[in-house]
Amino acid sequence: MKSLQHLIDRNRAWAEAVNRRDPDFFERLAQQQSPQYLWIGCSDSRVPANEIVGLPPGELFVHRNVANVVVHTDLNCLTVMQFAVDVLKVRHIIVCGHYGCSGVRAALAGEKIGLSDNWLRHVQDVRERHSAALAAIDGAVPRASRLCEFNVIEQVTHVCQTSIVREAWDRGQPLAIHGWIYGLDNGLVRDLEYTVSAGGEVGSRYAAALDNLTAAR
Ligand code: CO
Repeated sequence: MKSLQHLIDRNRAWAEAVNRRDPDFFERLAQQQSPQYLWIGCSDSRVPANEIVGLPPGELFVHRNVANVVVHTDLNCLTVMQFAVDVLKVRHIIVCGHYGCSGVRAALAGEKIGLSDNWLRHVQDVRERHSAALAAIDGAVPRASRLCEFNVIEQVTHVCQTSIVREAWDRGQPLAIHGWIYGLDNGLVRDLEYTVSAGGEVGSRYAAALDNLTAAR
């Protein structure tokens, strides 16, 4: 088996470059992390969380999965959220989807992939919830883009509904949930204007975010 020496070499070069800029960087970071943000995004290799928002190591706690789905029984995602909220006390949770998401496209088309069909079933639930709005859109690409947006909005709601976030809000911990979407073709994040910082806001902010989406295009 060929070794991945080229990646090890790149790592050496990167660590040296960081050291040249800031000789104490790694030592300082090794003591503790205190990120302000939890990023929940898609696993897609074109959507690298830290790079997109220009944050160095230590600033962003990250969970990624196919199609940035938040499922109430996903122990992996819940553990990341609980650690981020209860231990690290992040101030913001960002759910960032992206246009051109293969997982969302497969869910929209009902493509058979294999085991992943079960995971993407959650995105199909989003598709069914918004089937009338999606049917009114002409063209496969704009329809898929809208489902990417709807998916972010639904996943933000799921984050808000977790016991982790509800309990944080109940004890007065400052925590805001945000819905963003990233453009592969221009490198830009768009705020879907669904930001929730208290349990009582979810319903009205959800409705406003959906209105905003349909008014925008
Ligand atoms: Co994706």
